[in-house]
Formats: sequence, structure tokens, C-alpha cells
Amino acid sequence: MSQIVEIVHRIEFSCAHRLHSPELDEAENRRLYGPCFNDHGHNYEMEVGVRGAVSGSTGMVMNLSALSEIVRREFWTHVDHKHLNHDVPFLEGVIPTAENIAVAAWARLQGEIEKSPGCRLHRIRIFESRQNSVEYRGPSPD
Ligand code: NI
Repeated sequence: MSQIVEIVHRIEFSCAHRLHSPELDEAENRRLYGPCFNDHGHNYEMEVGVRGAVSGSTGMVMNLSALSEIVRREFWTHVDHKHLNHDVPFLEGVIPTAENIAVAAWARLQGEIEKSPGCRLHRIRIFESRQNSVEYRGPSPD
């Protein structure tokens, strides 16, 4: 019988962005997004949760330093101190809400994390502020 455990790696990153939908006119954008229509910044925090069986030989699900290196290389270096509307190729054409950042992070991280035997990316949670966060658990099966 194997024990499935979730390990969580947490990072911080600081970015500028603005929220603006190309499908709306300027007045509608201002009404919808309020102050977020203007350039502003956030100190984000992100948790990456990985589930897997605890290895009998290492006592670990996945080496946390390996997980840290993947998150840094595939995500953090591309977004920290960047403007999310202009500087990040994998967010091009995407409204940079926390929801869309979580979905994009999933796409960047899943393949690398799941190279570790038996490991599954389980959730990505992005805290945009102390009050507000989003969580993504991957594409729905339908
Ligand atoms: Ni914002």
C-alpha cells in the first residue's frame, strides 16, 4: 500500500500588469476593471502542489529542491519584475488575471514536474493579495 502525500512549494514574485479586454470598449473596460484598468503591481505568492507516493528508498514524494528549480526555471524567471502585458511570451494575448496566470503556470510546469516518477501536479494557487487568491487543478476532463 502506498501513501499519497501532497508536497507544496511556495514562491513570491512581483509584477506589473493592467486588466483590459480587447472585446470591450474603453468605457466598458474602465467600468469592469475599475482601478485595475490602469498599470499597477502586485506582490504575488504562488503555491505549487504535487502529489505522489512516498518513496520507500528516499522517504520523499519528489525532491523539493528539484521542484524549486523547475518552478524557478520554467516560471519565476519569466515573470518576476516583469510587466505581464508586455514582457512574458507565454502570456501574450492573455488578460493577465490571476486565473489566467495560474492556467499558464500549469502549462509551463506540468510536463517538467511529471517527469519525476509517480508525481502529478495537483494544484496551483496564486495569491494576488492577502484577501484574494485563485486555485487551478488542471483542465476539466470534459
Ligand atoms: Ni491587478
